[in-house]
Amino acid sequence: MTTQSLKNKKIVISAGASGIGLAITKICLQRGATVFVSDINEKFINKLRKKFKNKKLFIYHCDASNEKDVNNLFDKIKKKTNKIDALINNVGIAGPTGTIEKLSSFDWENTLKVNVISHFYFTKNAIPLLKKNKGGTIINLSSGAGIMGFPLRSPYAASKWAIVGVTKTLAMELGKFKIRVNAICPGTIKGDRMVRVIRDKAKFLKTSKKSIEKEFISMASMNSWIYEDDIAQMCSFLISKDAERISGQIIGVDGNATRLD
Ligand SMILES: NC(=O)c1ccc[n+]([C@@H]2O[C@H](COP(=O)([O-])OP(=O)(O)OC[C@H]3O[C@@H](n4cnc5c(N)ncnc54)[C@H](O)[C@@H]3O)[C@@H](O)[C@H]2O)c1
Repeated sequence: MTTQSLKNKKIVISAGASGIGLAITKICLQRGATVFVSDINEKFINKLRKKFKNKKLFIYHCDASNEKDVNNLFDKIKKKTNKIDALINNVGIAGPTGTIEKLSSFDWENTLKVNVISHFYFTKNAIPLLKKNKGGTIINLSSGAGIMGFPLRSPYAASKWAIVGVTKTLAMELGKFKIRVNAICPGTIKGDRMVRVIRDKAKFLKTSKKSIEKEFISMASMNSWIYEDDIAQMCSFLISKDAERISGQIIGVDGNATRLD
């Protein structure tokens, strides 16, 4: 894995104020990039503003699932730069836990809106800036649920499989512009999101959180949690020159997850 510098790179990250997005933000800053981060959560945004007094970090409030918000965000970014090297489509919610009969159409629509349509808003705005740069990279956050079935999480699985389809298609559309498009499929990440996912699944199945946690970890051959930094390292590699001919790939960072149930 590269530790190549990201000096002078300009990188846009959606939902980058906490979780995996924050880990990506940090590694990009550490390696010298200028980072344009957006997030919907004011609390996380304020925390990030306080923690990182870095002239290369620009932080914006934006609901990624609202087209107007995303267009406004890019208007602000375009006041700072007319080209970017990378877009990280990180935004994605877990969605509800339950069998299809128990889920509402709101649950479905909202999960698809935040996890898929938001990527369209960001990507549409980013492509002209990547073209001006004469190349670059788009990284879409999919999931193990984008390559396997995921019982009790049907809207999430649908959204993450959609991201794989978009990634493959965009890589074909944008290759001639030297824009590379890849998807990362994280495994079970140690962090706040999985605390909530484990709680909801234990409640739905009326079992203990400990047993659900053990089950999740055992889905990886390496019988291990995956860490936010593992995903950030992969992003850094994919942005760097070391990955200059890698496109259209669906990359698991999951300790070899063989099932998701
Ligand atoms: N955590 C995991 O185990 C895991 C596993 C596989 C894939 N993923 C994917 O990785 C990505 C990041 O996951 P995470 O665990 O860091 O997520 P998370 O649930 O911890 O949320 C990260 C950030 O998203 C922001 N956010 C939520 N809705 C938003 C919206 N509409 N607009 C803007 N920001 C919004 C939140 O405020 C938060 O700061 C997601 O696409 C997720 O589906 C996560």
